[in-house]
Amino acid sequence: MVDLGLAIALALALVHFGLPVAYYLYLRVVWLGRPWGVRRDHSFKPRVTVIVPTYNEARLIESKLDDIARQDYPRGRLEVIVVDSASTDGTVEAVRRWSGGSPGLNLRVISEPSRMGKAYALNNALRHASGDIVVITDADSRWNSERTLSNAVAWLSDPTVGAVTCVKNPERGGFLGVEGGYRGFYNIVRLAESKAWSTPVFHGELAAFKRELLEAVGGFPTDIGADDSHTATLVALRGYRAIAVDDVECIEKVPEEGYHAWRVRRAQHLVQHFLKTLRHVGRAPNRFKPVLLVEAYLHLVNPWLLLVAITLMLYQALKGSFIAIVISTVGLLLLVHRPYRIWVITQLYLIMAILRNIWIKEIIWAKQDK
Ligand code: GDD
Ligand code: MN
Repeated sequence: MVDLGLAIALALALVHFGLPVAYYLYLRVVWLGRPWGVRRDHSFKPRVTVIVPTYNEARLIESKLDDIARQDYPRGRLEVIVVDSASTDGTVEAVRRWSGGSPGLNLRVISEPSRMGKAYALNNALRHASGDIVVITDADSRWNSERTLSNAVAWLSDPTVGAVTCVKNPERGGFLGVEGGYRGFYNIVRLAESKAWSTPVFHGELAAFKRELLEAVGGFPTDIGADDSHTATLVALRGYRAIAVDDVECIEKVPEEGYHAWRVRRAQHLVQHFLKTLRHVGRAPNRFKPVLLVEAYLHLVNPWLLLVAITLMLYQALKGSFIAIVISTVGLLLLVHRPYRIWVITQLYLIMAILRNIWIKEIIWAKQDK
């Protein structure tokens, strides 16, 4: 007879793995191939403000500005704001040097006297932005082509679309195995959620918003870390679509050192975002509500099921249960299978993130070399 502990462990594991797999298959089969239901006008060329927040980005900022400068978006309709929060490595000087050598781009620098965090800096820049569209982009990211910005803006020609983000891929190096596998899976999820209505996870590498909507939601939240995802979700909660699209691609640098700490910090931000979002689920558009609920569940609850299942299973194995020993061994051996390994590691990051949020929120985080 299978005893109770074992039965509970199996049931929890079944839900833990079954629900995300079912969600993924549902998104893939039902939504991924569907039409967008969005009208895209490539002649739509509103004024755009690109905001680059920086803290100690001297090493990367010039190539980031090159990347923006090579965009095919009409120069006269493009404004770039670098908002720096008291960098100590000469970031502002690097920006000034770059702009001296590359006239023709409408670039301004806002130099804050002290570091109050990324979202605070974005709000500061927003007050100076003249664009009807505001695009946020991290200094350590690259856009895939010179059409990236134009493509993103074209989606916003549709009155129902309020915000657009990229699909993203890690640059070679470091933990590409884990990071690349993780991305391949999530890009599909984000695209399919976007087709269903909206995705609650946006990327700081490129997040484009209609300015009036940014203002309507009160700018970027300074009390949580995932400014990009949370702002996009607030836009979606107002009935507009916040979508990740596949003709807008970003490349992100992944830190070689401190990869785990980096993943935990970002998971902390997402956890903060979903906790804060849960309060508003009631007013989500009908097609967005299930996505929001499932994503909140996957980030906040589902990882614990795995932890409890593993604990119970190991306990039974230690007590000498033959079935538990077999299942535990299979669970361990399966770690050679990459998608499974990546999944399990991600669950550990989420658990650590939820716990770590209890004592530190990482709203202002240590700069990592990439
Ligand atoms: N102005 C300003 N002030 N910029 C900052 C600050 C700050 O206090 N802190 C970080 N930044 C800038 C960085 O210089 C970089 O351009 C961008 O914000 C993102 O910072 P990273 O240090 O590269 O963070 P990340 O890549 O791990 O963070 C990602 O996830 C976050 C949510 O978890 C990005 O996508 C962020 O945009 C996102 O908020
Ligand atoms: Mn980054």
